[in-house]
Amino acid sequence: MRVARLTKSQMTKKLYIETVGCQMNVLDSELVVASLRKHDYELTDNTGDADTILFNTCSVRQHAEDKIYSALGRLKHAKQSQPHKIIGVLGCMAQKDQRLIFERAPYVDLIVGPGQLHQVPDLIKGIEAGSGQQMEVSLGRKDGSRDSIERSHESFDPLRDPAMRPTPFQAYVRIQIGCDKFCTYCIVPSVRGPEQSRPPQHILSEARQLADEGCKELILLGQTVNSYRFRDAAVASGQETRMSDLLYALHEIEGIERIKFITNYPKDMTDDLLEAVRDLPKCAKYLHVPIQSASDRILQRMKRGYTVAEYLVMMDRIREWLPDAAVTSDFIVGFCGETEEDFQLTCDLLREQRFKNSFIFKYSERPGTKGAEQYLDDVPEEVKKRRNNELLAIQNQVSEEDNQLFLGRDVQVLIEGPSKASLKLQESGRQQESGRQQVSGKGGSGKGESGQGESGPGAPANPESGSRETGNHGTGNHGIGQQDAESQQLQLTGRTMCDRIVVFDGNRRQIGQTLPVTIYDANAHTLFGTVVTQHIGPELFSLSG
Ligand code: 5AD
Ligand code: SF4
Repeated sequence: MRVARLTKSQMTKKLYIETVGCQMNVLDSELVVASLRKHDYELTDNTGDADTILFNTCSVRQHAEDKIYSALGRLKHAKQSQPHKIIGVLGCMAQKDQRLIFERAPYVDLIVGPGQLHQVPDLIKGIEAGSGQQMEVSLGRKDGSRDSIERSHESFDPLRDPAMRPTPFQAYVRIQIGCDKFCTYCIVPSVRGPEQSRPPQHILSEARQLADEGCKELILLGQTVNSYRFRDAAVASGQETRMSDLLYALHEIEGIERIKFITNYPKDMTDDLLEAVRDLPKCAKYLHVPIQSASDRILQRMKRGYTVAEYLVMMDRIREWLPDAAVTSDFIVGFCGETEEDFQLTCDLLREQRFKNSFIFKYSERPGTKGAEQYLDDVPEEVKKRRNNELLAIQNQVSEEDNQLFLGRDVQVLIEGPSKASLKLQESGRQQESGRQQVSGKGGSGKGESGQGESGPGAPANPESGSRETGNHGTGNHGIGQQDAESQQLQLTGRTMCDRIVVFDGNRRQIGQTLPVTIYDANAHTLFGTVVTQHIGPELFSLSG
């Protein structure tokens, strides 16, 4: 009997995955890709080539959902002409809209909530085998006991895919899922389920594995990451592991040079955590602690659980423990009932507190939240837009002024890779060479509606806005040897320990290293510098002579 053998490339299927939203989604996409690679999928950045097209979605704001429904609309004809193409919607919008997605886009094959992503490979297999449309979502917040709801939201974390990381040197590590804070504007507690901290042993073994793979920076993720606390139910007298305990343990891992964590909840910024950040040299002196509004009336409507005065006391404590820390924030403008007076209080606080940067969002009503039920979304869109721009202008001024203070200073930069300008240049070089247009693929759009830096707090992935020319740029690697390519000058980007973006000229060999850079220019978003070079003194020459 002859067995027809498929070659590797004949067996391999192509996956296109697009990620919208926060770092949690970027990590989820990494895990989905890792699990599909085990089923002979490889990535493509072209929907036309793809056997399976997945959208990992966000439902924090309406705009993010609209983008996905438009993208699905554009695939309608492709699905008609290639009915075997599998189209899937994953993540928060899948959990929120569920069957509504099938109603709005009947050619979608797959809907999977963020707590069910481990099922994606089997669900795809089922669809290939002809079982029709598939949907797997977690229980709603009122659909069972806390225990059963928690279990239905459990994430899957063991599989990793280095190709999907922000850079080969940086990785997200989930330490907590879900949220129990129930801010009235926010959909996250319903789509991501109850707050659950991951066992520290799991986090540590994942972090060790990442370090073994060459990862130098860990970015710990949680919706309210500093609320992390784990008590082993199996051990009656079990001690509780706090966020600070976790930091001490992670700090021990050889190879890890930097540890960041996002996003913090103001009420849980405890002294033991600030002390750990101060005392642990690998901990980035960088804290993202959203305030959302500086009007007590609005904070109360948002049910944030603190007053402005309490937030300011927390800021004072941060500055006491960590005088040089960079603090960043999120703001929502135009929340229900926000008056001009409320908004001015927010502007004043931003001027006073001088956040390193802020992510500023126009309120977007989310059906199913308390905010949508209780309050009228009564601030007109033009007013939201104007307030958004005004607050952003204040933040830009603060950021620019504070960045100017770095002129002439040396900063330690973990080099992430080519700058955006370099990548663009390489891309256009490639296009000229191949004479055809490339379709861009998989990237996460980040959360920054008006943020500085495009990919949300602490997010790497070449977020610098530096389109400024700083001299010699690389021209792509085509037609040159490996060694030449490595030493060729190109514009690079990286971050300081305080999460400031730095752009400078260097070469590929420096990517992944931490080097001192002298800053000679700065704008609101980016510091520009030159790598501090070590001069060989004349005494060395005399030795060899
Ligand atoms: N509208 C606008 N912004 C929102 N955010 C959360 N929910 C909404 C909403 N309904 C913002 C908050 C939060 C960030 C992740 O997104 O500022 O900190
Ligand atoms: Fe949403 Fe508030 Fe939880 Fe943050 S703390 S995820 S804003 S409910």
